[in-house]
Amino acid sequence: MCGIVGYIGKNNRAGEVLLDGLKRLEYRGYDSAGMCVMDEDRQQTFKAIGKVSMLEKKIAKSCVESNIGIAHTRWATHGKPSIKNAHPHTSGKIHLVHNGIIENYQQLKQDLANKGHKFYSQTDSEVVAHLIDEYNKKYDFEDSVTHALTEVRGAYALVILHEDEPQKMIVVRNSSPLVIGVADSEFIVASDASAIIQHTSRVVYLDDGEIAVMTPDTYYVKTFSGKNKRKKEQILDWNDEQAKKEGYAHFMLKEIFEQPESVSDALRGRIIAKDGMAKLGGLTEVEKQLRTIERIVIVSCGTSYCAGLVGEYMLEEYAGIPTEVEYASEFRYRKPLVDKKTAVLAISQSGETADTLAAIREAKNKGALTLGIVNAVSSTIARETDAGVYNHAGPEIAVASTKAFTSQLSILVLLTVFLGRQRNMSLTMGKRILSELQRIPKKIDQIFEGEKDIKRIAKKYSKYDSMFYLGRKYNFPIAVEGALKIKEISYIHAEGYPSGEMKHGPIALIDKDFPSVVLAPKDSVYEKTISTIEEIKARSGKVVAIATVGSKDIENIANDVIYIPKTLEMLTPLLMVIPLQLLAYYAGVTKGYDVDQPRNLAKSVTVE
Ligand code: G6P
Repeated sequence: MCGIVGYIGKNNRAGEVLLDGLKRLEYRGYDSAGMCVMDEDRQQTFKAIGKVSMLEKKIAKSCVESNIGIAHTRWATHGKPSIKNAHPHTSGKIHLVHNGIIENYQQLKQDLANKGHKFYSQTDSEVVAHLIDEYNKKYDFEDSVTHALTEVRGAYALVILHEDEPQKMIVVRNSSPLVIGVADSEFIVASDASAIIQHTSRVVYLDDGEIAVMTPDTYYVKTFSGKNKRKKEQILDWNDEQAKKEGYAHFMLKEIFEQPESVSDALRGRIIAKDGMAKLGGLTEVEKQLRTIERIVIVSCGTSYCAGLVGEYMLEEYAGIPTEVEYASEFRYRKPLVDKKTAVLAISQSGETADTLAAIREAKNKGALTLGIVNAVSSTIARETDAGVYNHAGPEIAVASTKAFTSQLSILVLLTVFLGRQRNMSLTMGKRILSELQRIPKKIDQIFEGEKDIKRIAKKYSKYDSMFYLGRKYNFPIAVEGALKIKEISYIHAEGYPSGEMKHGPIALIDKDFPSVVLAPKDSVYEKTISTIEEIKARSGKVVAIATVGSKDIENIANDVIYIPKTLEMLTPLLMVIPLQLLAYYAGVTKGYDVDQPRNLAKSVTVE
């Protein structure tokens, strides 16, 4: 899990492009950063522990003007964050940056050490530099890379330089993301397009098992076995502005406030109102097969997993299809019982989460139909699933996922209507769900009107060490997501629990210092939720209730109340999660934490 950037061109701006790219990729990891630039006569490497700003300070003005360079921002896997473990790694005249994990590095390291190689870091990545260097005794730069790759096992995106060939950059991809940006007389390669879009919208996605050999004028792509590949250029519709904060204090806050728009974007062009039907272009090819599906298994991680849990309630109640949700990391190692009649649906913002990708590959092997709900266009999961639906939520930069979540829920509603209408859902029901769904963006805006109150409540509760998040039915998954959010951002220990299950044990924890956030919309289980609040109050626990506008009675029992507008029960999660995102955000801000890049986390976990 790291961010890598490479630059080759004619404009002497390697240093500046690389540094800017690193800042944009910082969400992928920020344990250390490093850069290597070179010209005909010299090579310079800079490294710093911590964020890219530390590297920037180190480089200051001492960086040569250069036409070629590589850079890296690290999320530690092998070896602690340190200067020695920071990339780029070097052996002889070979310099490289790596994202991924080299599974057989210990064996390779031993073999190379026996041949006299000395290692400076504890990383798996350094081994690849030595291996290429070893082959370079016999072969030229390009062939050395190809030979080395035959020995390397694992996941890797690599950008490699040779001091004797400052006109050449070699880029490799195998199971870790890599994009090439094509501009006038320069190329920028990066882990994702956010480091590229400010320079060019023309991109080429490398596939697994491909090598790109690049010079300042041109490049070509071949497979590991040497077969030339013609790659198609794509035009990105993400502009530079979308990736900036636009005046908000943090990306997370900006992304929370983007939700009316991102939900609208998820629905755009996908509703046929008169037929009470969803139109999902990405599913056209498998439409017939979907009619025969008897079961759905959703695989995902983190926030995307919580979206899947909501999907289970929707798909079972309204499409009538038995649905299960699995942590992708569990699915991949169990013996999943899936077959032709099962659709395995991956939900992933990044489309690169290693566990989710592995789960999809396993499902494919077992003959299941694989589907995706993915935000990052052309990401690996998007490409490897049989069919799917894009979120169109734009780049999500804050590590904690917000707008991608409500976008995922919106698409799950569309999918439910789509599959439901293929089966028993009535025209009236289809119309009703879709017309209410279209009102959600406005209703999210109404919740923002209460932002000041939510901020005040967040401040008040940020002093506690632990909290419960309780919900029933459609809002049980939202309790889990709310608890996840506050853990991620404000480091408060929180448990997301089904309200009804609380009395079977966890209630023992309740006292005046253990508050609960209770999700209490006016739905079919409202009365039962009120009983839960009473049970907590009877044990001196404090309660923040999130209730539907008009539920005045709740003010008499809860300590604090936040209101959300009325909607269909199945759509309440789309509104309920908004105050929880804001609570987590403001609790984190109150405690002075870096909410966009919380400790120990990474935006996209491309390792196991
Ligand atoms: C990481 C992120 C989470 C995210 C999860 C799944 O753990 O920190 O915010 O929900 O990965 O990511 P995905 O890109 O697959 O949705």
